[in-house]
Amino acid sequence: MSVTVRVPAKVNVQLAVGAARPDGFHDLANVFLAVGLHDEVTATPADALRVTCEGPDAGEVPLDTTNLAARAALALAGRRGIEPNVHLHIAKDIPVAGGMAGGSADGAGALLACDTLWQTGASRAELLSICAELGSDVPFALVGGAALGTGRGEKLRVLEVGGTFHWVFAMAGRGLSTPAVFREFDRLAEGLEIHGPVASEEIAEALAKGDPEALAAAVSNDLQPAALSLFPGLADTLAAGRAAGALAGLVSGSGPTTAFLARDAESAERVARALTASGTCRTVRTAPAPAPGATVLGAPVTGG
Ligand code: C5P
Repeated sequence: MSVTVRVPAKVNVQLAVGAARPDGFHDLANVFLAVGLHDEVTATPADALRVTCEGPDAGEVPLDTTNLAARAALALAGRRGIEPNVHLHIAKDIPVAGGMAGGSADGAGALLACDTLWQTGASRAELLSICAELGSDVPFALVGGAALGTGRGEKLRVLEVGGTFHWVFAMAGRGLSTPAVFREFDRLAEGLEIHGPVASEEIAEALAKGDPEALAAAVSNDLQPAALSLFPGLADTLAAGRAAGALAGLVSGSGPTTAFLARDAESAERVARALTASGTCRTVRTAPAPAPGATVLGAPVTGG
């Protein structure tokens, strides 16, 4: 018997960053939007905990207990006093170290897959609390849709979304480490007065109306200067996407994936073609938003 869970990537349509806290994290006002790029995590009973991965970036995915999928299985098994004997297979389509929370998605996916496989009957609240222990972006991967994340991003308030938003994502030739980008944020902020992060009302309204122009006018990412400082070539990708008619272009989360909001599906295809032709990025994908959170595919199948 095995259980497969599908989990979405995210883009941050707002990422307001406060000053570094004593625990090293930063307070955020972080508007997550789940997008239709997915990983699938399959949990199958095994003799011991094992992680495997397939997909174009599989070689860059750690297969030890630093993988959030493994840590999710360990966390749930530890709480239930059971052995974490499970094979977690990740079919990876979300870029690795790309600022789209792919590792976090795998954590949420593995947690839901193990909960289903082991029939642990964890409540939604318990699953969310395990997710928050695993990482700041993990609870959102479970919830999907759109949400405002505060604290270090783990405290979620679901936001209404009144339509489909068409996105284009340009994946870069290498990854960026999230802690390194936050450190660069701190370095660039030295000597400046950093205010507490404030959630944008314009963004919540634009999402609720399903209005891409209004959303494009309001998107912001305080980590973008830090990502550009560590990866200056991203400026060329941003310029290429904007020149091709994207309503907005921004770095996704801590980057280096760049995200472009298009007026409609046709325009997204045009922007994607222009970005591919620009030679400023590795691959280009289009994806609609919002996407649902972690979802168990079908019923548990026997014989897998
Ligand atoms: O929570 P997560 O493990 O995903 O965070 C990865 C790293 O990103 C943290 O160790 C920290 O350096 C940085 N971070 C931060 N403030 C946040 C979230 C993440 O400084 N709110």
